[in-house]
Amino acid sequence: MQENGQIVRTPLSVAPPREPLETSRKRSARTFFDEIAPRYERVAHQQGAGLASISTYELAFIRTQLQPHAGVRLLDVGSGTGRIAADLLARGAHVTCLDLAPRMLAENQNRNGEGQADFICADASKRIPLADRSVDGIVCCRVLKYMATWPTAISEMARVVRPGGRVVLEVATRFSCESLGLAFKPMVYHLHEPHEISAVMAASGLTVVDQYYGTRLPFALYQRARSHLFLWWLLTFEDLFARILAPGQLCRSVLLAAVRTDPAPT
Ligand SMILES: C[S@@+](CC[C@H](N)C(=O)[O-])C[C@H]1O[C@@H](n2cnc3c(N)ncnc32)[C@H](O)[C@@H]1O
Repeated sequence: MQENGQIVRTPLSVAPPREPLETSRKRSARTFFDEIAPRYERVAHQQGAGLASISTYELAFIRTQLQPHAGVRLLDVGSGTGRIAADLLARGAHVTCLDLAPRMLAENQNRNGEGQADFICADASKRIPLADRSVDGIVCCRVLKYMATWPTAISEMARVVRPGGRVVLEVATRFSCESLGLAFKPMVYHLHEPHEISAVMAASGLTVVDQYYGTRLPFALYQRARSHLFLWWLLTFEDLFARILAPGQLCRSVLLAAVRTDPAPT
């Protein structure tokens, strides 16, 4: 594992937390996720899809965009305990897992340490400690909302992905966070609208080429249903059916897939 530029080969041994878990936004994301790391997956799965758990539709979208196979170098920003990285590694890609919280990374290392993975402890909203154009693709899922300076993270992702490479960003919306549990809610800095994120991506040289909305409805209808109360029942019905037919698989987050369209600044 690499922390602050130094390679640490053994899993990090982290001192027990000094303070009890406190869900104040003033608390840093690093402290919060370090605290919750050992029970993150359990807590996350209690929250339902769209929050911590990754739906099969989302995973399929990420795979289609990033084409994880042998020889492909991927970066997982805010990799957490490595659920997404595990899927990409299983398909043969090399994955660099980057996270702010050493304990989340330690859980990730326990899970994926035997595979073709690297582990970096860093704050992606300040600087990603990788060279320009050094990866083929990036995934950043369930992370942006915890970053106060998320535009910097986007420009850093644009810098490290090669021209032609893809970046898949999850955008947490009001809808995807509806059932966000009390443990996580106070940590959220920003809920976004996809157009807000894609504008910042465009300014960094990332052109959105595909998107996944957590719905099986035609997108135009979905957009109208989101903004018109009289169509709201459509989403409610979809929720109900999803709960019965595919529990945990419907997620109202938006995934944006962008391609690096011009050379990254050096
Ligand atoms: C909700 S978890 C999601 C983990 C993983 N992406 C997944 O979907 O399973 C959010 C993760 O983002 C990390 N994180 C939050 N802010 C970060 C930052 N500024 N730089 C790097 N990682 C960050 C947290 O430490 C945490 O592990």
